[in-house]
Amino acid sequence: MSEKLAIEGGAPLRQTPFPSWPIWDENEERQLLEVLHSGQWGMLSGTKVHAFERAFADYQQAKHGICVVNGTAALEVSLAAVGVGPGDEVITTPYTFVATVNAALSLGAIPILVDVDPNTFCIDVEQIEGAITSRTKAILPVHIAGQPADMDAILAIAKTHGLRVVEDACQAWGAEWRGRRVGALGDLGTVSFQASKNITAGEGGIIVTNDDQLADICWSLHNVGRRKGGLWYEHVRQGWNYRMTEWQGAILLAQLARADTLSERRSRNAHHLSEALQSIPGIHPLKIDQRVTRHAWHIFIFRYQSDEFGDMSRDRFIEALQAEGVPCAPGYVPLNQSPALLDGLKRIQTFREDAPPPRPCPVAERVCTQEAVWFTQNMLIGSEQDMNDIVAAIAKIQRWAK
Ligand SMILES: Cc1ncc(COP(=O)(O)O)c(C=O)c1O
Repeated sequence: MSEKLAIEGGAPLRQTPFPSWPIWDENEERQLLEVLHSGQWGMLSGTKVHAFERAFADYQQAKHGICVVNGTAALEVSLAAVGVGPGDEVITTPYTFVATVNAALSLGAIPILVDVDPNTFCIDVEQIEGAITSRTKAILPVHIAGQPADMDAILAIAKTHGLRVVEDACQAWGAEWRGRRVGALGDLGTVSFQASKNITAGEGGIIVTNDDQLADICWSLHNVGRRKGGLWYEHVRQGWNYRMTEWQGAILLAQLARADTLSERRSRNAHHLSEALQSIPGIHPLKIDQRVTRHAWHIFIFRYQSDEFGDMSRDRFIEALQAEGVPCAPGYVPLNQSPALLDGLKRIQTFREDAPPPRPCPVAERVCTQEAVWFTQNMLIGSEQDMNDIVAAIAKIQRWAK
């Protein structure tokens, strides 16, 4: 007789919490006090945001970094900078945070959602060319969970069709595609420092690029259309005030200092967990493309196969695993079916009647509703024993369910 599940009233396998997030120490405190005492709380007169932009761009192997208020703003500015405007089409995926499609919609552009690869949950590059029309302006791949999308194929397709590439690297700073860090592989790349991210200031974002001209346009767009070196009231284009505060810059400098130590721990634990999960039939960690030389491990995702668990539904499995003391989540809903997208498209149809409706995305629909299970990055900064507990809890559920 197998051990009773916690969800059925048995004892939970694990009582101790996983590591909490964010992590900070006296470095963050010192940085914040420096800003406080300087009286320079805005980035235009301060030093912290500039210092972080330089340090982070170097970290990502990019020539330029432009900090903004959040990842969504980074996407809006980037898409606007490459010329995406009302009625244009932007190819991206349904398996992402809603901000990816919102950024295009807020510019009046139509997100064309191409289904994902079932093994990586990144855009299925085989389907991109079929989605290109005369209105397509850009491809917006999402490096989901911290794994780069197939940038070889994406950059080649973009070149053939004269399209711009904006990388949604919001979850993937530090990740590498064939030895090169993501973000500046395409024209522009965006990163988020929102509270859950692998380094965070509560909110925040940055755009990285190797293109001098695009860097200047992004800088201008995020600073109410000002010209670098121009007069205070000289606004050469319509822009936003998306400037980051010095508080955020200060925190991010301190966070970046321990980024590599934490990344190595996440990576070690993620590999241990992936290997250990191989002992459990029906649990399939996402595949890692061989050209990915560094994974950012923002989320650890596996596919759950219910027929190996006595047909227990994915959602019931998640409840059972949570009850055993292992936090987990089902993750995204498929954005091709999201009211947010339909709402945005309705507005766009007022000036582009022929705006195409979202296409079916059977892989994203299936994995979102039946298969995906997420662990957040903070769980991966724990010990090897923490990983072993996750495996033991899943094995316990399987023994009970079978
Ligand atoms: C893939 C992806 N794109 C965009 C965003 C938007 O970033 P933010 O929440 O900083 O606006 C996020 C994170 O929240 C994200 O995970």
